[in-house]
Amino acid sequence: MVTIAPSLLAADFADLRGQIALAEQGGADWLHLDVMDGQFVPNITIGPPVIRALRRCTSLPFDVHLMIQNPDRYLEEFRSAGADSITVHFETCPHLHGTVQKIKSLGALAGVCVNPATPESLLSGILADADMILIMTVNPGFGGQSFIRASVEKIRRTAAMVRSAHPGIHLEVDGGIDLTTARSVVDAGADVLVAGQSIFGSRDIPSAVRALRAAAGGT
Ligand code: DX5
Ligand code: ZN
Repeated sequence: MVTIAPSLLAADFADLRGQIALAEQGGADWLHLDVMDGQFVPNITIGPPVIRALRRCTSLPFDVHLMIQNPDRYLEEFRSAGADSITVHFETCPHLHGTVQKIKSLGALAGVCVNPATPESLLSGILADADMILIMTVNPGFGGQSFIRASVEKIRRTAAMVRSAHPGIHLEVDGGIDLTTARSVVDAGADVLVAGQSIFGSRDIPSAVRALRAAAGGT
């Protein structure tokens, strides 16, 4: 069963409520929210006030992806704003085990993300604790980039590693996921697909969600 998580980064920011409704109409499972601080990544996006406001528009689970320095400082705030899962970058967390425990203690799913150049082997110490591993399939910061082909093998290696260490853990992929790449990442072992441009860049958002699920081989 594949989880489809449309990334709101590619949506029309002047009509977030309407765009979320269209994604829901297409059967989206989660909503992926990209938080960027202009430090860890060059772009600046949204923070807790926007997430809190969106929480009133939908009951979809909020999958919050923190691309920020020192995420520990903001975990409570994102959780109270409505995050159901909170994913931090390996590259921003010197005390990753503590950060993951903190997210779980707040009642959210804890995700850990690695950039394309960060080897998945560095995650071995956190697999038993994390609820989700996120493999970036582009360099974080912007939507609409091309999928990095070498990611497929990285996903395969990560899937083998995570599934033996922690059955039930989610393996999410983010960046350049569309009708041409979805099947390869699912075949490699991903079970949560984030997609921005290929969904919100479409003229028919509900159909784009359904088409991505079909392309992924899901039901
Ligand atoms: C990029 C973000 C992604 C982004 C994906 O740093 O983490 O979630 O929205 O966008 P697409 O699907 O357009 O590559
Ligand atoms: Zn993201």
